[in-house]
Amino acid sequence: MSVLRTKPIKDVIAQGDADGADGGPGLKRRLGAIDLTGFGIGIVIGTGIFTLTGIEAKNHAGPGVVISFAIAGVVALLAALCYAELASSVPTAGSAYTYAYATMGEIVAWIIGWDLLLEFALGAAVVARGWSGYLGDLLGLPTTWFGEEGSIVNIGAIAIVLILGVVAIIGVRESARVTNLLVLVKVAICVFIMVAGLFFVKAANLSPFIPATEPASGGEDGIRQPVTQAIFGMEPSVFGFAGVLTAAAVVFFAYTGFEAVANMGEETKKPKRDLPLGLLGTLLISTVLYIGVSLVVVGMVPYAEIDEGAPIASAFKSAGAGWAAILVSIAAVAGLTSVILVDLVAMGRIGFAIARDGLIPPSIAKVHPRWGTPYRISAIMTVAVALLAGFLPLSALADLVSIGALCAFVLVSLAVPILRRKRPDLERSFRVPFSPVLPIISALACLYLMLNLSVETWIRFLVWMVLGAVIYFGYGHRRNRLARREHGEPVPTQRTPA
Ligand code: ALA
Repeated sequence: MSVLRTKPIKDVIAQGDADGADGGPGLKRRLGAIDLTGFGIGIVIGTGIFTLTGIEAKNHAGPGVVISFAIAGVVALLAALCYAELASSVPTAGSAYTYAYATMGEIVAWIIGWDLLLEFALGAAVVARGWSGYLGDLLGLPTTWFGEEGSIVNIGAIAIVLILGVVAIIGVRESARVTNLLVLVKVAICVFIMVAGLFFVKAANLSPFIPATEPASGGEDGIRQPVTQAIFGMEPSVFGFAGVLTAAAVVFFAYTGFEAVANMGEETKKPKRDLPLGLLGTLLISTVLYIGVSLVVVGMVPYAEIDEGAPIASAFKSAGAGWAAILVSIAAVAGLTSVILVDLVAMGRIGFAIARDGLIPPSIAKVHPRWGTPYRISAIMTVAVALLAGFLPLSALADLVSIGALCAFVLVSLAVPILRRKRPDLERSFRVPFSPVLPIISALACLYLMLNLSVETWIRFLVWMVLGAVIYFGYGHRRNRLARREHGEPVPTQRTPA
C-alpha cells in the first residue's frame, strides 16, 4: 500500500533543522501564551466577522447568526485541541500536512495539504473581497466594482491580491511591531463596535431571534440548498434552526487560521502549557468578540436590510453615526490587509512543503536566490487567487474555505487516536483530554457542519479533490521523494524559503 507510506520522523526533524539553518522560522523557544494569543487573533479576526456576519444574517439566520458564531466557535475549539496534540507530538514547524505524512500516510497527507492550499488561497480571496467592500464604503466607490451587491468584477479585490502577492514574493514581512499594532486595532475596533453600537440597538430588530423557516427563493433552492436538506428530500428552505446551522458552517470561516498557532510549538517556551492556552485564548477571545459584534450588528439594522459589502460600517451610517462608520472602515481596511498577506505567505509555504516532498513538481516551488521565497508557485497561485477574488461572490468563496478547513479538521481529529495507538512512544507535550471521545466528537461535529453547506459547495469541493487525485496518481505518487528513494533514484536537496 504505497499510498500509505509514511515519512520517517527523523526526516521531518532534519527538514525542520534545515529550515532553521537557512534563516527560516527560528527554532528558538521564545514565545509565551500571550504572544501566541496575539499572533492567533492577528490571523483569525478578519472578513468572517466584518462581512460574513451581514451576509449570513440576511440570507440564512437572521439575528440567529449570533448562535451560529457560538456553534462554530465550539467546533473550532474542539478541532484546535486535536491540532495542538498533533503539533506537540510531531516536532516540526510544518503544518498538519507534515504530521499526517509522518504518521497516517502519504495519501492522507496529500488530501490535507491539497485542502490547506485551498483554505489559504481562497481565504486570501475572501478577505480581499471584504477589504474591497470596506474600501469602497470608505471612499464611496461603486459596489459593482468594490462590493457584493450587483458586483460585476471586484477590481479592489484583484488589485489588493496582486499588490500583496508581489509583497509576499519579494519576501517583505510585516515587522512584529506593525503586526502587534494591527492586532490591537482589530480588537479595539471590535470592542468599539460593541460599545458604540449598543446605543443604536433596537429590541424590535432582535425579534424574532430566529426567523421562522421560509421556502427558499432567490437562488437558495436546487443545488444551493444544504446537503442535509437535499439528502432527506426536504423542501429547500432558509432561516429557522436549519438556517442557523447553515450559517454556522459558513461562518466557521471566521475561525479558520488558528492552525497557525499550533504550528508555533517549536518556538514556544513551554509548549505543554502555552500551546493549549494560546489556542484556547485565541478562540475564546474571537468567539466572545464575534458574538458581541454580531449581536450589535443584527440589533442595529433589521436583518433583511443589512448591507452585504460593508455591513458594520453601513449599520453605523444608517443609524446616523457616519463618523463611526468611517472609523470602522479604516480599521477594517488596515486589519484585513495583514490577514491577506499572511494567507498569501502561508499559501506559498504549504505549496513549497508539498513540492519539496516531490508530490508536485519541485521545479515550480524553486526558491528565488535573492528573495528566498518560492516565487514561481506563489506567482501562479497569486494570479489564480486574484481572478477568483475578482469574479466569485464572497459567500461562495467562504463556503469553499469552510468545507476545505472542516475536511482537513475531520482528518486531523481522527489522527489523534490513530496516532496514539500507532505510536504510543511519541512524546506528547500536550494531550487532548478524554481521547478518543473528544477527537471523535470533534470529527463528527466538523462533518456535520460540512453537511450543512450547499450541494453546490460540495460539488466545487469534489471537483477540487478530483483534480488533486489526478495530480497525485498522475504525478506525485510515483515522483515523490520517498517513492524515488524506494526505487534507488537520486533525490536532490532543495533550498528552504526564508
Ligand atoms: N478567519 C479569517 C477571517 O475571518 C480568515 O477573515
